[in-house]
Amino acid sequence: MIFDLVISGGKLVTASTTYTSDIGINGETIAAIGEGLQGKEVIDARGKLVIPGAIDPHVHLEMPVGDTFSADDWASGTLAAACGGVTTVIDFVEPEPDEVLIAALQKRLESAKGKAVIDYGLHMTLRNDHPDTLNQIPAVVAEGCPSFKTYLTYEGFALSDKAFLNVLEAVGKARGMVLVHAENDAIVSYCTRQMIEKGKTSPGAHALARPAIAEMAAIQNSLAHAEVTGTPLYIVHISTAGGTSALEAAHLRGITAYGETCPQYLTLTEDKYDLPNFEGAKYVCSPPLRQKNDQETLWRGLAKGVLQTVGSDHCPFNFNGQKDKGRDSFVNIPPGLPGIEIRLALLFTFGVKKGHISINRWVDCCASSPARLFGLYPRKGHLIPGADADIVIFDPDKEIVVTKAVLHERVDYTPYEGIKLQGYPVMTILRGKSLVIENEYIGTAAHGQFLKRQVYQ
Ligand code: URP
Ligand code: ZN
Ligand code: ZN
Repeated sequence: MIFDLVISGGKLVTASTTYTSDIGINGETIAAIGEGLQGKEVIDARGKLVIPGAIDPHVHLEMPVGDTFSADDWASGTLAAACGGVTTVIDFVEPEPDEVLIAALQKRLESAKGKAVIDYGLHMTLRNDHPDTLNQIPAVVAEGCPSFKTYLTYEGFALSDKAFLNVLEAVGKARGMVLVHAENDAIVSYCTRQMIEKGKTSPGAHALARPAIAEMAAIQNSLAHAEVTGTPLYIVHISTAGGTSALEAAHLRGITAYGETCPQYLTLTEDKYDLPNFEGAKYVCSPPLRQKNDQETLWRGLAKGVLQTVGSDHCPFNFNGQKDKGRDSFVNIPPGLPGIEIRLALLFTFGVKKGHISINRWVDCCASSPARLFGLYPRKGHLIPGADADIVIFDPDKEIVVTKAVLHERVDYTPYEGIKLQGYPVMTILRGKSLVIENEYIGTAAHGQFLKRQVYQ
């Protein structure tokens, strides 16, 4: 048989295996894996890693925050993602407080249509536990969005214990999963007030206003609620050793809960907030950057399987014109960092090359586990016949010094400026079509499709 496309002689890496083989692709699908495959077109992948397209389960494209929006839209953000080896992102629907959820979903789908260059799913944010809201959950699940985002902090979003419990119950009944931004709102409010009363308004005060204990307390609390309801819980952007240990303890009690961390917590530390000239604002995100010992625990958590995924939490704001709105006070700095493009490569250099995680765990955290947890597996996140031909060819020896110019994200800085990477994606293929070659986007149209995801298995 002659395949449409053959990727020849690469080292295939999945979440569980590493072996040298060819991949035969017909149309949009992996048709065969084996030796000596013949293709109308052949890509020589000898000396390279061949992995499933990365899946970023946590991004915020053109997200409204206060009176502004995150700087990447569906077009620029997904193009940058593709250049970084990502073939699927899962973003959010952010309904207004009384908006019908399905109407908000339709609006969000419209905003992506014709712009997204890679495939995408959507989590639904829930801002309250009104019966009217909860009754809409099954319809949202039926539309292919079985994961629901909750916040335990942020004005207008924070759910009380009782509301969070009601949401867990309703989502559980609909066979969905609850995502939680876990920071204790009372502690954050108290510490923020303390900072302001003491006249501490610089970016460094942002970290003090959101201490590690606020995350640990909220993680413990949310796990207690998940334990009572039995609903699967996914804790986003875990940044602390305490939060990781709380999740590990919950696993020992048999609770179904998952943990995500992010590249920024694995590679950067809170000393960035002390940079001169307000540069610390570039690192303001919630939760904030932490200490070296937190980082070490996060890496161990990923290696041991306490944490399952690495999401970018890509939420970029320009330094000039957005972050600098907070020169008077850290409370006015829009929180969030870019990271959609560099996640896979950062995790390879700082995780695999430094010996924190195996190459298979790298693929698992960046592709297979997000696919499994969010109802896309094995169509996405795996290299097997029948799966979508979402494939990344990754050169483990390619050296890159990260600068803003290397990246395609539409934001005026990168938090990773000057960092040396060893290993970078050299080709990204989405459903059989090459989108990126050698860091250059070559796609011709926005072929990204909305993915209706399956309920939690
Ligand atoms: O600071 C962050 N993480 N911004 C994005 C929104 C969120 O809380 O995930
Ligand atoms: Zn969050
Ligand atoms: Zn987020």
